[in-house]
Amino acid sequence: VAIPSSEGRKRVLSGMRPTGKLHLGNYMGALHNWVRLQDPYDCYFFIADWHALTTDYADPSQIPANTREVILDYLAAGLDPEGSVLFIQSHIPQHAEFHLLLSMITSIGWLERVPSYKEQQENLKDRDLSTYGFLGYPLLQAADILIYQPDYVPVGQDQAAHVELTREIARRFNQFYKRPDGSEILPEPQVLLTPSPKLPGTDGRKMSKSYGNTILLSDPEPEIRAKLKPMVTDPARVRRTDPGNPDKCPVGDLHKIFSSQETLAKVYDGCTTAGIGCIECKSWAADAIVQHLAPIQQRRTHFEQNPALVTEILADGDRRARARAEQTMQQVRSAMGLATTTPAGISESSPAV
Ligand code: TRP
Ligand code: SF4
Repeated sequence: VAIPSSEGRKRVLSGMRPTGKLHLGNYMGALHNWVRLQDPYDCYFFIADWHALTTDYADPSQIPANTREVILDYLAAGLDPEGSVLFIQSHIPQHAEFHLLLSMITSIGWLERVPSYKEQQENLKDRDLSTYGFLGYPLLQAADILIYQPDYVPVGQDQAAHVELTREIARRFNQFYKRPDGSEILPEPQVLLTPSPKLPGTDGRKMSKSYGNTILLSDPEPEIRAKLKPMVTDPARVRRTDPGNPDKCPVGDLHKIFSSQETLAKVYDGCTTAGIGCIECKSWAADAIVQHLAPIQQRRTHFEQNPALVTEILADGDRRARARAEQTMQQVRSAMGLATTTPAGISESSPAV
């Protein structure tokens, strides 16, 4: 279905904004899937710090620390810095150059019609998002993607419209510009929708940083247990003697994701017969989550204790990403009638982290 990239192995690209320490929802919704994609594909995973500025420009003070936390969580979750290219968006100035060039062929109406544009302006009423940069958010994302000429972009449903716009931009670009041999420069990437199980937060709503109902990948065991204790349960189970239904309980949803078949059977049996209490049931859910997070937290500690190693990993990722991005840009500059040499300073700089 997808156009294979010329070098054979298919390429995957995705990224996240630096929102700080990641939670179980980020993990099940994205990272967990990315880890599995590393084996069959050449993967590029990055942190979109410029995208953070589109909404946080008035106070960027949290961006460096948040970027650091996301890198640690990427590595902790099992993204492999040898196989995959892990990098920071702002360290690859070619994305910005490409964004500018793509802006020449992007109609403002396309950007205004992206659903997240108006939605986010509504959601973040405390900020002035009537900026050029915020309108351009999805175009910057298109540049992030197309510059690596990937086959697949694994994202959640909320990002599907951005990938769709990216495909439109690629088509428009390809109509105007071609390689000297007439072939197309930008393959249309396909969205790889992450199958995301329903992951409730501790208040029963979708787990989300903005609801303050998250369990972090880096939460220590006592914290996880403390967060689960007051968690919302099946409202029909008012008293210990009332039977409940795990299908109507957020704790039941957690069991379905993290517990063994054996534990899950005990939950169904115990809940529907009022044979177990919710406190016990929650402690089993906590056990399962703690167990699931143990290897992740072990890796995180390893990288936290080796900041020089993380710096080295990022420097290497930046180098590899820049080389790949520059390869596309040479074709793009030439096709768009620009000097084909690299603009001074764009390839040499190797910013420290
Ligand atoms: N908009 C994405 C998000 O909010 C982050 C992002 C920026 C991204 N550029 C990207 C995701 C390119 C995938 C591909 O999560
Ligand atoms: Fe939910 Fe478990 Fe209580 Fe049943 S026993 S209502 S599944 S917490």
